[in-house]
Amino acid sequence: MRRWCECGYDRGVNASDFVDRMMGLHAQLDDRFFAHQQALLDRDFARAAAALADYRDRLWRHIQDEESQVLPRYAALGGEVGDAPVRLFLGEHRNLRTFVDDFDVRLARLVQQPDDRPLLELFDRQATFKNLLLHHDLRERNALYPFLAEHLPAAEQERVLAALSWSGG
Ligand SMILES: [Fe+2]
Ligand SMILES: [Fe+2]
Repeated sequence: MRRWCECGYDRGVNASDFVDRMMGLHAQLDDRFFAHQQALLDRDFARAAAALADYRDRLWRHIQDEESQVLPRYAALGGEVGDAPVRLFLGEHRNLRTFVDDFDVRLARLVQQPDDRPLLELFDRQATFKNLLLHHDLRERNALYPFLAEHLPAAEQERVLAALSWSGG
């Protein structure tokens, strides 16, 4: 995001812009997952499946963006030496995707045969997923994004934001 002060000097993206923009994407993902769970509560499994597909598409793209644009820069700038190495983010991304794939399968079964027990099992699995997601979110909020905001030149931060395949919506 480019911002212009009154003198017309381009300050580019500032540190908090970068963190805010990336965390804003997490907030949008959370909203979409919430919509999915609301549909589950309504036992509207077709709507739940559509909302999950929306969520999944955006989560996949966000993960892909991080793995192609964000994490390579983080590693190149020395992010590996801290207590949040790239392999940790990649492992969490893998786990998140595995969980959502499993939700797809469970939901397809629910569409065929709506029943309380599998629905409750799905909510239980989603509680575990949300716990993993919370840890991942905190690691990115507190380690990954602020590290890049501090160490990546403003023009590079702007390049990352411009290259995102999913930048909201
Ligand atoms: Fe993220
Ligand atoms: Fe991530």
